Amino acid sequence: MQNDELQGQLRRLIDGVMNGKMSRREAIRRATVLGISAPVAASLIRSGVAMAQSTPEATALAPGHSIVVPEGLRTDLAGQRISVVLADASSPSVPFSDAAHARFTEVTGIEINSIPGEQSTTDRLAIYNQQFAAQSSDIDVVQIDVIHPGILAQHAFDLAPALSEQASMHFQAIVENNTVNGALIAMPWFTDAGLFWYRTDLLEKYGLSVPMTWSEFETAAQTIQEGERSSNPDFYGFVFQGNAYEGLTCNGLEWQYSNGGGRIVEDVEGTPTVTLNNEAAIASFERARSWVGNIAPEGVTTYQEPDSLNVFQAGNAAFLRNWPYVWATTQVEGSPVNGLVDVGSIPMGEGEGASHAATLGGWQLMVSKYSQATDAAVEYVKYMTSPEIQKAKAIENSNLPTIASVYDDADVAAASEFIPRLKEVFQGGAVARPSSVTSFLYNDVSIAYFTGLNQVLTGQAEAAAAVEDITSQIEDIISEL
Ligand code: GLC
Repeated sequence: MQNDELQGQLRRLIDGVMNGKMSRREAIRRATVLGISAPVAASLIRSGVAMAQSTPEATALAPGHSIVVPEGLRTDLAGQRISVVLADASSPSVPFSDAAHARFTEVTGIEINSIPGEQSTTDRLAIYNQQFAAQSSDIDVVQIDVIHPGILAQHAFDLAPALSEQASMHFQAIVENNTVNGALIAMPWFTDAGLFWYRTDLLEKYGLSVPMTWSEFETAAQTIQEGERSSNPDFYGFVFQGNAYEGLTCNGLEWQYSNGGGRIVEDVEGTPTVTLNNEAAIASFERARSWVGNIAPEGVTTYQEPDSLNVFQAGNAAFLRNWPYVWATTQVEGSPVNGLVDVGSIPMGEGEGASHAATLGGWQLMVSKYSQATDAAVEYVKYMTSPEIQKAKAIENSNLPTIASVYDDADVAAASEFIPRLKEVFQGGAVARPSSVTSFLYNDVSIAYFTGLNQVLTGQAEAAAAVEDITSQIEDIISEL
């Protein structure tokens, strides 16, 4: 190992001790694995921690600190400028992306104009559709949701000629998802899976174990909420995403699938078939409805990801359903719940066909076919989806890589230890929304689903009637296929 690489590894161990993610003993053990003798490791870590404590500003790691720029980027495009649409302006991933852009510009001379996207993926798609309809060359690269290749393919520049070799490193299921009529319409950037975040201190305080079933979960949420309310009137058992948008489709799919209620629309012997109207799905919606205003706030029916995260982050909820990025925002210095959070699988039902469920999410980078700087745009996508940047993003944003080897990287494990631990959930265990089977109609299908489900949650509709209504709407929509 080179000297500067060794120093970097040591610094990360010291940071791990500083921010409470690792015991000194564990840091020393890991240092010995790097080939340093135990007494020397102990002394290096002791003095490193002491030095960091005496200069507190030195411990706040700058965004992008873990970025290593991949080799071989083109330098002959210097002076070109591309516009890219990534996360919304308030996303915790923005500082990292800005730092990654600065490093890219430093090396390639290609300038980047970063335009914030919409927070809700449903709104984001609507805006993209408008912009692409105008065939404008103002935007070169956009991040697109895993459910949108079938809808946006017609506006994509084919990345296969330039990037198919790099694509072979990524999870093939995602590459296939991004391949439409033989064209690689986007490169996988990071993947997502619905997760169950919980407060370890509160489970311990009330003598509870991590709930595995929805009934255990309800008892635990109720018990903790009752206990905490005496000192904190704003406390709730559970927060999730109940607003009428794509995020609710993700939650709803988890509720019904984990209860043995299927995947909304499924391929039955080659024919897309709406399978939603079944008792297990209806029961799961009724159960979710019973949470609202009880173990979950009334306002949860308007929550998107950041709203639910804010409640949990402020220490006002015992359980949170959300994506992997929660780790990087909660497990940091200054977070009120730092060191008090852990994560596992979303609870499941107990009847026939019940199983744990995590909705598959994730984001890809697509080059617009209306771009007038496709070479520079492709170079940018190549860089942002490289193993180097995926590794840094896993460390700093706790986003899941789409390249298997990055999961086993020691630095990733040190920063976001749940990533290797939950590898099985991420690699194959996640449940896909019916976007392949409904193709370019997926968004209409999802709108019918989340609108009806939101009405159930707000009490405007009964679950059984809503399911019947959603079913006939979706049948109508997919009759166009
Ligand atoms: C996350 C997922 C994405 C999903 C969205 C819903 O960003 O990665 O696939 O559609 O949440 O809000």
